[in-house]
Amino acid sequence: MDSRRIAQMLLVVAASSLLGACSNFPSRQPPIWVFPDMKRQDKYKPQMHSDFFADGRTSRRPVAGTLSQEMYRADETLATGVAGDNTYVAKNPLPLTKETLLHGQVKFNTYCAPCHDRTGSGRGIVPSKATWVPGNIHDERIVGMVDGEIYHVISNGRRSMPGYRFQVSEKDRWAIVAYVRALQRSWRGSMADVPADSQAKVR
Ligand code: HEC
Repeated sequence: MDSRRIAQMLLVVAASSLLGACSNFPSRQPPIWVFPDMKRQDKYKPQMHSDFFADGRTSRRPVAGTLSQEMYRADETLATGVAGDNTYVAKNPLPLTKETLLHGQVKFNTYCAPCHDRTGSGRGIVPSKATWVPGNIHDERIVGMVDGEIYHVISNGRRSMPGYRFQVSEKDRWAIVAYVRALQRSWRGSMADVPADSQAKVR
C-alpha cells in the first residue's frame, strides 16, 4: 500500500469520526459546542438551582411590600367603588357636570348599548342574536343601588355579565355611572319635569 493510499484512508476515518459527532447516537456526555452561539448563558431560569443563594433557589421572593404596577391603585375607593368599611361608595366621586354626562353617554353607547341598548332597557343587538338577557337598568332594584354598586357591576361584571375594568378606565366607568343615573331619571320623567314654556310642544 503506497503512502498516498494510506493518507486517503486516514482522511476517510477522520472525516467519518467527525461526522459521527453530528449523529444522533445517545450519549450521557454534554454535547461539544464548537460555536456556542449564546446557547449557554450565565443566567438563571425559573426553578433552577443556584449555589449563590443560601436556600439554593434561583426563584426569589419579591421584596416585602412589592406591588405590581397592575395592582397599584392611587385611590382604592375610587378604583373599586368599595369604601374601607366594605360598603359600596354611596355617591359618584366625579363632579356631575354636563361634560361628565356627555362623556358617560359616549362610553355607555360604546360599551353598554350593544347589550343594554341606548336606553338601558336591555334590548341591544347582542341579546337580539343570542339567548342572553341583560338586566333592565330601570328595574326598581337597580335604580335603588348606590353609585358604587353600579360601578362595581361595570368593573367586575355580575352573574352572566362580563366585567369591563380592562376595557374602560376608572374615570370612564364613573362617567358611565353618572349617565346610567341620567337614563334612570329620564325613564321616570313626567310632564312636571318639562319646563312650563315647552310643555305645549310635548306630544
Ligand atoms: C355583553 C353584554 C353586556 C354588556 C356589554 C354590558 N352588560 Fe350589563 N348586563 C348584561 C347581562 C347579561 C346582565 C344580567 C346579568 C344577570 O342577571 O345574569 C347585565 C346586568 C347589568 C346590571 C344589573 C346587575 C344586577 O345586579 O342585576 C347593570 C347595572 C349593568 N348590567 C350595567 C351595565 C353597564 C353600565 C354596562 C356598560 C359598561 C354594561 N352593563 C355592559 C350584559 C351586558
